[in-house]
Amino acid sequence: MITIIKDRIEWDHSLFSVGIEKIDDQHKVLVQLINSIQLKKNSKDKDFIEKIVNTLVVYVEKHFHDEEQIMQNMGFPGLGKHKEKHGKFDQIAREFAQKFSQPGDQAVVLEQLVAYLKKWLISHILVEDKAYKDYLFRKLD
Ligand code: FEO
Repeated sequence: MITIIKDRIEWDHSLFSVGIEKIDDQHKVLVQLINSIQLKKNSKDKDFIEKIVNTLVVYVEKHFHDEEQIMQNMGFPGLGKHKEKHGKFDQIAREFAQKFSQPGDQAVVLEQLVAYLKKWLISHILVEDKAYKDYLFRKLD
């Protein structure tokens, strides 16, 4: 069951956990940041929203770095493909952040950004990130 309540992502440990506390904690921060953007999406406080969006872009980069390090340490064979997905997300998130900082219809950009972030995060954790969890658990068996 996907846990989006009134547009807000609700962390469900049994669903989202990848079995590594550090990564779960980082995913929770990403969920919080996306929820913060969602909550503020109708606000006129553009500077505040811009700060959250930029924080997300920076935080996600740290998360990807830490996660890739862990995958490398466990010898995960899907690391290359996973890195490509991270790179693609990074690029799209930066494009959104740049679009948002420019003059134009920021409400539309923000709506698109929030929709993209929610869809991406949920499907990425459930499919891509869970793949290294499964690999690790098989390895430990
Ligand atoms: Fe948790 Fe692959 O991002």
